[in-house]
Amino acid sequence: MNILMVCLGNICRSPLADGLLRSKVKRDGLAAIVDSAGTANYHVGGPPDERMTETAMNNGIDISSLRARQFEVSDYDNFDLIYVMDKSNYHNVTRLARNDKDIDKVKLILDELGHSNNIQEVPDPYYGGQAGFDHVFDLLDRSTDIIIEKLKND
Ligand code: 4NP
Repeated sequence: MNILMVCLGNICRSPLADGLLRSKVKRDGLAAIVDSAGTANYHVGGPPDERMTETAMNNGIDISSLRARQFEVSDYDNFDLIYVMDKSNYHNVTRLARNDKDIDKVKLILDELGHSNNIQEVPDPYYGGQAGFDHVFDLLDRSTDIIIEKLKND
């Protein structure tokens, strides 16, 4: 199973989702390949936002070596599942889809939290304070726990 995490800049939310899932896949000895990308090209080649890297590190996840790249149509061929952080990402990714099979691969990551969850989108923490980064960590930690359980049951 190849899983791609997507946000806008690929420097805050999707690198964390990538780092969390990668670390849990390794911890549990699963075979999945995990990567991340942004729909925009603003930060291509750059490292994750320092505030996200620090928040992740404080929780035992090292995302410092990840580098931003832009989502491309070939990602539809290379990944089985494409998790987007918000509806704007969903729109930007699915407008590059070539067919229904491509579209079926794209899911809002917070949909994994199910009915108990009352927010659909991972808020963009870029222009906010530390509380926003902690909130993103909590949402993505819980979502990736559920993704891991699904991978184990595959
Ligand atoms: P991300 O956050 O999509 O979670 O990586 C953002 C990072 C940078 C910008 C926007 C969102 N930006 O406009 O530069």
